[in-house]
Amino acid sequence: HKRVAILISGGGSNMVALVDSMSGDHPARPCLVLSNDAGAGGLEKARARGIATAVVDHRPFAGDRPAFEAELVKPILEAGADIVCLAGFMRVLTDGFVSQFQGRMLNIHPSLLPKYKGLHTHARALEAGDAEHGCSVHEVTARLDDGPILGQARVPVLPGDTPDALAARVLVQEHRLYPAVLRKFAAGDRTPIILT
Ligand code: GAR
Repeated sequence: HKRVAILISGGGSNMVALVDSMSGDHPARPCLVLSNDAGAGGLEKARARGIATAVVDHRPFAGDRPAFEAELVKPILEAGADIVCLAGFMRVLTDGFVSQFQGRMLNIHPSLLPKYKGLHTHARALEAGDAEHGCSVHEVTARLDDGPILGQARVPVLPGDTPDALAARVLVQEHRLYPAVLRKFAAGDRTPIILT
């Protein structure tokens, strides 16, 4: 099995979807859930599933991303990860970190990339009057929310949508898309998945 480290900052619902997908004939298994925040709700969910967890708090490294990343990489290497999945990991990663996992690090982003890189994607889609919104899984490169797209799922924008309502609709699709992409990716297949 390929060994998968999952990086989170919050509730970890995408992490749970990934972990719960990795059983049976799946070519990968989770080896670590790592957070930059000891208060991330996902850590408890990982522990409840018997997965090793680690925390590297970014705050003591304020302003020094390379020093933070030098610590962040350690548990990933110790866990022997083959694949790194960012799942609601809310720290920007520099080239020094990303280059160590070239071609084997994935991210999920709540927009139809290349639209709406960065934050507040749902509010921005609403402000733009988009009829459609969604999520993307992509290979991570040193450029934020860039890199080859491995899968996308679309949702309609509905009359009266708020950012929260739209986010919830997208999240349902994230939980379908990310496991589907990881399964193919772990098997060496990088052809993009389009879910409808
Ligand atoms: C997800 O919607 C994910 O796409 C987004 O954060 C949420 C995390 O939820 N990621 C980003 O915005 C990355 N910049 P989760 O912790 O329940 O998976």
